[in-house]
Amino acid sequence: MRTKYKPWAKPYIEEHTEVMCPFDMMNSYKDYYLEIGSGKGQFLVNMAKNHPDCFFIGMERNVTCAGFTAKKLVEQEINNAKLVYANAEQVLPLINEGSVNGIFLNFSDPWPKKRHAKRRLTSDSFLNQYLRILKKGAKLIFKTDNYDLFTYSLELLENSSFKLVEANYSYDGKDNFDEITEYEADFRSQGQPIYRLILEKL
Ligand SMILES: C[S@@+](CC[C@H](N)C(=O)[O-])C[C@H]1O[C@@H](n2cnc3c(N)ncnc32)[C@H](O)[C@@H]1O
Repeated sequence: MRTKYKPWAKPYIEEHTEVMCPFDMMNSYKDYYLEIGSGKGQFLVNMAKNHPDCFFIGMERNVTCAGFTAKKLVEQEINNAKLVYANAEQVLPLINEGSVNGIFLNFSDPWPKKRHAKRRLTSDSFLNQYLRILKKGAKLIFKTDNYDLFTYSLELLENSSFKLVEANYSYDGKDNFDEITEYEADFRSQGQPIYRLILEKL
């Protein structure tokens, strides 16, 4: 499901600054949920619509995906969500300690080769950043279709300072504080199981 490059995306996000959050402005938001690797923005937009009292920030490094998300935020007049067009690796270290209400990782790229393990969004260095930026009691919620990434992440997370709240091998999608993503819709239509982990920062 590689997203085909769209030349309109970059000018669109440059023009629509009202839905974008420059990465050095993230600390100006006090209470927000962060989705890392927000893809084309379906989850971000629907979470924002269904939870108008909460604020959401999506982070996406692919320009075309960022363009699709910005378009949804503009056209659906979403006021309680913004998009950061950036690589999480560079931006997470700049976020204030204990400032994020929750983190969603939805269908993160699996990076199956061992030599690329550091790029996985559940690798050790990312987990340490999540632990640093989450508020006490806040959750890290990870959904995937990829069994190998799920078991790799579960093992790392069990050995981390996070408290494991839920390890679900057949998540039915029934959670009021969740929305289906583009990738999830595709996997569910093929009958593939969806795995989910919920972790809490103690
Ligand atoms: C497999 S797609 C899933 C998209 C969406 N979350 C969904 O479930 O439909 C993973 C997305 O994460 C983005 N991504 C991967 N690593 C990232 C990083 N380090 N920083 C920001 N975005 C990242 C990719 O560009 C891609 O859009």
